[in-house]
Amino acid sequence: MTRDRPLSIAVVGGYGQTGHRVARLLAADPGFRVTLVGRAPDRLAATAAAIEAATGATVSRVRAVAGDPAATGSVDLAEAFAGADLVLSATSQTGALAAIVAAATAAGADAMDIHLSSAPKWRVLRALEPTLTAAGRLHIADGGIHPGLPAVMIRAAAARFDLVRADVFGAFRLDWAALDLGSNAAADLAAMIRDFEPGAWRGGRWRTSWRNTARHDFGPPFGTAACLAMALEEMRALPATLPGLVDAGFFVAGFGAVVDRLAIPAASVLLACPGLEGLAGRLLLAALRRYGSGPAATVVDLDGVGRRDGRTGPITTGRIAARLVGGDAYDLTALAAVACIEQYRERRRAGERPTGLVTQAGFVAPDAFLDRLATGGARLAWTTAAGDQAG
Ligand SMILES: NC(=O)c1ccc[n+]([C@@H]2O[C@H](COP(=O)([O-])OP(=O)(O)OC[C@H]3O[C@@H](n4cnc5c(N)ncnc54)[C@H](OP(=O)(O)O)[C@@H]3O)[C@@H](O)[C@H]2O)c1
Repeated sequence: MTRDRPLSIAVVGGYGQTGHRVARLLAADPGFRVTLVGRAPDRLAATAAAIEAATGATVSRVRAVAGDPAATGSVDLAEAFAGADLVLSATSQTGALAAIVAAATAAGADAMDIHLSSAPKWRVLRALEPTLTAAGRLHIADGGIHPGLPAVMIRAAAARFDLVRADVFGAFRLDWAALDLGSNAAADLAAMIRDFEPGAWRGGRWRTSWRNTARHDFGPPFGTAACLAMALEEMRALPATLPGLVDAGFFVAGFGAVVDRLAIPAASVLLACPGLEGLAGRLLLAALRRYGSGPAATVVDLDGVGRRDGRTGPITTGRIAARLVGGDAYDLTALAAVACIEQYRERRRAGERPTGLVTQAGFVAPDAFLDRLATGGARLAWTTAAGDQAG
């Protein structure tokens, strides 16, 4: 095995919205070999053919259903991952992640996921952590942009300022009506509402409260929007490495008045009734398609306050801000996951790959990661100003 052989990546959910974009970006790089893993043979074949036509690469495919080894025609997951260096979980079934990570470990592969940063997911991952460590394997959790990006922006800002406060605000608009989502998408949305935690660091402690709200001006096309804190594991971990940080949170804008004020509360009521989870998910997806759709747009803003500590002069306070503007949030999610996988490849080649459980935001080198988003098409601008109060 030469040091520079292509790295083999298996993408589970490989014809999904995120999965096929990641697979296509990776396939365009001769340093990767891609295998699509999914449950519908015709969609696997069509996606592999489209990526091959676009990139000239050869794309493998395996039919396997994560979490259901008895599914007709399905290959055992560990068999599907044979020869893989890294397995990416990009399914719309976060509940299948445990089976994917266990099978990756059994096949001698590392793993990564892009699922939302929910408490149930992290309970599963923490339970798997000792096995990962004992086997010398790595799992990179919470890839993508939300989770995945906010704590990277804060770490990048912390290299420029001694941060006291750093909040990140995200606004995402998708043309839901035009999206060809997978068969589990409604259930995935229902789980997102069920598991949502409005948590952030406030006053030096982690606080979960529906009053963790903020208004933020995202500029065009969103303007000023009401935002709610969204707990991300990468945020919870930040003060351990940035002890001066008193306030840090990720605040996400809503989907528009009808979805936020009618559909989500109605779905929450349905979710509390046993057996109505499916209806809750379908209601939410229908509302997003009817009332939450628009031209794709993404804005992620960092707003930080920090101080220089007087070692090189008088103590000063100042403000640091960064605005990242992208188009389609799915394109940016895939680009972020690929930026992380590229850094994984470099660290692996350098013999510096850690083992155990990390978040994408804790794993990547922040500036290199943000530079990669910029070369991939996102626009990133930093501004700093002296004189604001640290609060
Ligand atoms: N971190 C971020 O920034 C970010 C951004 C967007 C989305 N996400 C997360 O990314 C995940 C994927 O979202 P998406 O919008 O890309 O979903 P999607 O378009 O619905 O694609 C999901 C894919 O997973 C497949 N799948 C579902 N269950 C499976 C199983 N048990 N075994 C094998 N394949 C399975 C689906 O196939 P079938 O159609 O055949 O069921 C589909 O191809 C979700 O967890 C979502 O919350 C994260």
